[in-house]
Parts: sequence; structure tokens; C-alpha cells
Amino acid sequence: MDWENAYRQKDTPWDKGAPSPGLVDFLETAAIHGRVLVPGCGFGHDVRAIAALADTQVTGIDIAPSAIEKALKKRPVGSEVFLLADLFALPPTLLGTQDWVWEHTCFCAIEPARRKDYVKAVRSALRPGGHLAAIFFLDPGHTDPETGPPFGVGVRELDTLFQKSGAFELLHEWEPKRSYPGREGRELMRLLKAK
Ligand SMILES: C[S@@+](CC[C@H](N)C(=O)[O-])C[C@H]1O[C@@H](n2cnc3c(N)ncnc32)[C@H](O)[C@@H]1O
Repeated sequence: MDWENAYRQKDTPWDKGAPSPGLVDFLETAAIHGRVLVPGCGFGHDVRAIAALADTQVTGIDIAPSAIEKALKKRPVGSEVFLLADLFALPPTLLGTQDWVWEHTCFCAIEPARRKDYVKAVRSALRPGGHLAAIFFLDPGHTDPETGPPFGVGVRELDTLFQKSGAFELLHEWEPKRSYPGREGRELMRLLKAK
């Protein structure tokens, strides 16, 4: 998938112009603070929602220059930073330094063959005991696991990748009460702790 080309063509059906409803609700109850990494941040709606909280330093990364360019043009709401960076080649400043990673539509965007690399990359960004909060797209609306992005994922595969690999401990999972229109009942949220 050529993400930069999609942004240049304005072919960005994933962008809803607002933060994920599941994140907005999660932020009302969760004590997110400290350094937060948002991989595959796109235009940065989720980054700004987190940056609006007190005591957060949020970094949004994306491999598409046009997405980062547009994110940087928005008025800052806190101390958020946007970087052109690849999750699979994180800059040293983002290694072992993050208290939180927020996942939303980055995992489902990468090739399924790279999922183990995704888990390693996210784990490598976190300090020991840091948290990964995620919305996983269980059902992207098609049944072919080879078709995507977005690539769907099953609960068992998530368990294997994140917990059984020894990288994370699952603290909590729930279905978001609210989703973007059309994604209702198709998402799963998880809170994981880095081991
Ligand atoms: C489906 S879009 C979601 C964007 C944003 N999270 C949203 O919901 O609007 C996936 C994003 O991940 C980015 N991306 C894909 N592979 C990446 C990688 N290896 N590192 C960083 N970003 C990546 C793409 O450029 C794209 O902006």
C-alpha cells in the first residue's frame, strides 16, 4: 500500500476528521500521562485528543509525509510532536522511553506478515511496565484475511502475538461503547502492560 500516494490523491476513507470515539471515552476514565506514542497517526486527531490532557507528551509518527505535513498545520493543543518516522525503524529517542502507546488503525494497516515485527516495535518503544492501549479492528467488513488494508484480526491471534509471545500482559478488554458510524460491533479494545 502506497500511503503517501493515497494522501496525495485525498483517498483517505479511514480519516473521520475526529478522534476515535473509543479513545475519547477511554480518556475519560484512564489515567494516561507521561510520554505517549501514536504510530500511524495520520492527520493526528487521536494525538491531539491525548495531548489535550494534562501531563502528557505525545508523539505521533507516520511514514506518509503528506499526513505529517497536514498534522503539523493544525493548531497545537498541548505539547504534541509529529514526526515522519517508520514504526519499524524507530528513532533512538522513542526507544524504551514511552509510558504509553496508543494503537488505532495502524495494526490493521500493516501487512499481516509483519505483525510480529509490530509487537516487537511497540514493545521496544515502551519502558518496562509501560502500557499499550489499543482498538483492534476485528471485522473490517470482509472475510478474506489476505484482503486489506484494513486487515482484520482474530482474538486468538491477538493473544498469541501479544501475550503468549511473552511481550505483554493483558489487563483488560472491552467492546467500545461508541465507534465511528459503520464500525459498531467490529472493534475490540485492549489494555496491555509491557513485560
Ligand atoms: C489506515 S491509516 C490510519 C491513520 C489514522 N490512525 C486514522 O485513523 O486516521 C494507517 C496509517 O498508518 C501509516 N503507516 C503505515 N505503515 C506505517 C509504519 N510502518 N510506520 C508508521 N506509520 C505507518 C499510514 O501512512 C497511515 O497514515
